[in-house]
Amino acid sequence: MAVTKPAQASAPGKIILFGEHAVVHGQPAIAVPLNAVQVTVTADPASPGSGLSVHAPDVGHTLRVTPDHDPADDPLHNALGYPLQVALRALDVPVPDLVLTVRSTIPIASGLGSGAALAAALIRALGSALDCPFDNETLNPLVYEVEKRHHGTPSGIDNTVIVTNQPVYFVKDQPIQPFTIARPFTLLVADTGRSSPTHITVGDVRKLFEAEPDRIGAIFTHIGSLVDIARWAIESGTIGVLGPLMDTNHALLRDLTVSSDELERLCHAARQAGAWGAKLSGGGRGGNMIALADPAQAKPIAEALRQAGAVNVITTVVTSPEDTDQTPG
Ligand code: MEV
Repeated sequence: MAVTKPAQASAPGKIILFGEHAVVHGQPAIAVPLNAVQVTVTADPASPGSGLSVHAPDVGHTLRVTPDHDPADDPLHNALGYPLQVALRALDVPVPDLVLTVRSTIPIASGLGSGAALAAALIRALGSALDCPFDNETLNPLVYEVEKRHHGTPSGIDNTVIVTNQPVYFVKDQPIQPFTIARPFTLLVADTGRSSPTHITVGDVRKLFEAEPDRIGAIFTHIGSLVDIARWAIESGTIGVLGPLMDTNHALLRDLTVSSDELERLCHAARQAGAWGAKLSGGGRGGNMIALADPAQAKPIAEALRQAGAVNVITTVVTSPEDTDQTPG
């Protein structure tokens, strides 16, 4: 199929502020986009008959995508090829002659939504190149389908916050609830450097829940109640409440066995350096943690996090979508 125009699309990373894991089991969670990291995909027309390929120079791979070759156990195909197969099916078009080039600053398997962002940017770029751009309502379920391939039983929060690029209060299988941020607040996002696939931690928490439904169910409910208090605090600008809520949420995630030595070290270092609260963010057992800070303290806390082993620290101001300020550093 001939393609007429080049196109470009991108998608941000995400941070879960409160409620990860419990959200898979029906509790609410709060997440915000992280625009300091991005996936960008460019789509360039290719010579007639050359078909569809995805080039990922950062990881040194090029993949040819055909509609029928779908090796579900190949992570590279699931990340790069499967989103395009899902999009081609949705568009109901033949395979175009197109080269898609992927660039990403979102670390893989680190709790920042790399899989969902990659899928969103790939599908958006394909739609635009074929002159059939996807709106967010159509795109979100397609990215969710890809998330199911990655995670098995995702709640849907990652695709929702990444596709809509706005803060969400999310409950599985319920309509999206954007919410307002009354007063901006500063977060540090620190990477342990250890990748940790979400499907493993989600699967382990599920096994724990099956083995001890009362104890683990009570932890999920407790996390859900923290999320609701956090929503009230964010919507009313009562930021002082958020730090202790983060600490408690982290302790409950530790009880769910998804913390790690690295995450404990970074949370401890952040609090010692003056952070108001700290917790792991995302699937856990590695990936990223977040710390809430007085903006004036962000630099020394970032330094303390690096001293404690963080391989990267991003300082971000969580604010309403039209007024975003996020800086690496
Ligand atoms: C992953 O970013 C968040 C988890 O709650 C999984 C999910 O919601 O699908 C751990």
